[in-house]
Amino acid sequence: MKYFITTAIDYTNGEPHIGHAYEKILADVIARYHRTFDGPTFFLTGVDQHGQKVQQAAQKSEIQPMEFAQEVTAKFLALWDKLGVQYDGWAATTDPRHEKVVRKVLQALYEKGELAKAKYSGFYSVRQEQFLTDKERNEAGDFGPEWGEVILLEEENWYFPLVKHKGWLKNFVETHPDFVIPNLRRNELLNAIDRLSGDLCVSRPKERLSWGIEFPFDPNYVTFVWFDALLNYVSFAGYLSDNDPSLPDFEELWPCKAHIIGKDILVPAHGVYWPIMLHAMGFPDEQMPRLVVHGWWNIAGAKMSKSLGNSIDPDVLADKYGADVLRYYLMRDNIVGQDSDFSEENLVKRNNSDLANDLGNLVNRTVSMSQRYRNGRLDSIELNDPDLNAIRDLAISVIKRYRAAFERFEVHTSMETAWELVARANALVEQKAPWKLAKDPAQSELLNAVLYTLAETLRLLALLVGPVIPAASEKILDQLQAGNFRTLQWGGLPSGHDLGKPTPIFPRFEL
Ligand code: MSP
Repeated sequence: MKYFITTAIDYTNGEPHIGHAYEKILADVIARYHRTFDGPTFFLTGVDQHGQKVQQAAQKSEIQPMEFAQEVTAKFLALWDKLGVQYDGWAATTDPRHEKVVRKVLQALYEKGELAKAKYSGFYSVRQEQFLTDKERNEAGDFGPEWGEVILLEEENWYFPLVKHKGWLKNFVETHPDFVIPNLRRNELLNAIDRLSGDLCVSRPKERLSWGIEFPFDPNYVTFVWFDALLNYVSFAGYLSDNDPSLPDFEELWPCKAHIIGKDILVPAHGVYWPIMLHAMGFPDEQMPRLVVHGWWNIAGAKMSKSLGNSIDPDVLADKYGADVLRYYLMRDNIVGQDSDFSEENLVKRNNSDLANDLGNLVNRTVSMSQRYRNGRLDSIELNDPDLNAIRDLAISVIKRYRAAFERFEVHTSMETAWELVARANALVEQKAPWKLAKDPAQSELLNAVLYTLAETLRLLALLVGPVIPAASEKILDQLQAGNFRTLQWGGLPSGHDLGKPTPIFPRFEL
């Protein structure tokens, strides 16, 4: 079984912003972690290209929806490349392989009696592409500005039953505490299930919306964008692919270890529609995926949006500071599940203190001193020195706690834990003062042991930071000439090993 990690697929109606970047980096970090330390991993991400908002945006720009979606898609692709987001599968919902699966699923649900046609008349939010009920009215009795333009609409459509499966879903979520991480979000979902009252309209008449996947048994309709988009998680994993060699083997991937999504799309899409869809399609309870729900990046406490003009362009930040710095800041200054405030000042501070000062100095001192005192050659002498024993024991404990943090998707904790070791190794340099040991021939063995301990600690640290700052990690391993020594056990560097030449890896930035 492979580690199968996905993200929400990004909507192609506008520009990528820091929120999109954060989510892809988070997923990439988790995927890289498993790929490095556990084994075969498949990371799927992509773009959500259909729906009304894309059709409208294309109309505004006076181009075809396909052309519009592709232009925006190209921006996402370029950004992921720049940020080192290393995916194995690309889920673009206009891909004919995906469209085929959506149609097959609709056909199968129809044959099972899970889809019914019905007439409905009511208020409709053009912006959110959904009919509104009284529950959506605010205290003043109006539909608030979040719904955009609201019109009265009567329509015959295809409905997918949610209420019929409500009892199953409630029981499933209650008996599977791991279905939604973190727990706060699971409680939110349980409350939403209690309030669930209507079924899901999964079609749109073509006269109103043509930019979607045509219904297999009723060509006057296209598929509701969420029903289409959610299926990317199985279609691009090889579900119903008739052994298409360009797609993975579904049995090897499913169930998904983590769908990484934002808190705004847990209810109702991922927490209600998606498990009910899978259940209706015949997936047993033990084949349900897990939802890892992250919070939002805000600007000075406020939601970012184009209209407020406060959205942050990750592309510009990556050019200015480099992808690793941006990746480190987003992972270190956010607790998965909670909201964070984006601040360029804090990004620079994190870089200067954690990367340039702490880790950067450790690399530089270790490699320079080994060159200066031992021509770069390590001697892994066994000495029973309590300080050196303590740092080895700390490294072993850090690795354990780092792994446990990743199992809980707490990336910030994993980095915090790794930096305990960085701090201790820097303190060891001060404490043992190799420049003094080098002057005293009687301390020659201790100097060897100190230099070995520092280099070995650094090798382990380079591996631990690899998922978050992959380029810097490789540079550290290069300087240690340790590219072939990737065990996560203490003692990986052999005696007699030669280190490379010191060159600075982490620049400092001024605000
Ligand atoms: N297309 C849907 C998802 C379909 S998944 C089957 C969608 N797209 S989106 O482009 O609006 O959002 C993509 C992801 O980015 C979502 O998980 C969303 O929560 C996340 N973010 C969007 N803005 C965000 C922030 N400001 N901060 C963090 N993540 C946020 O929803």
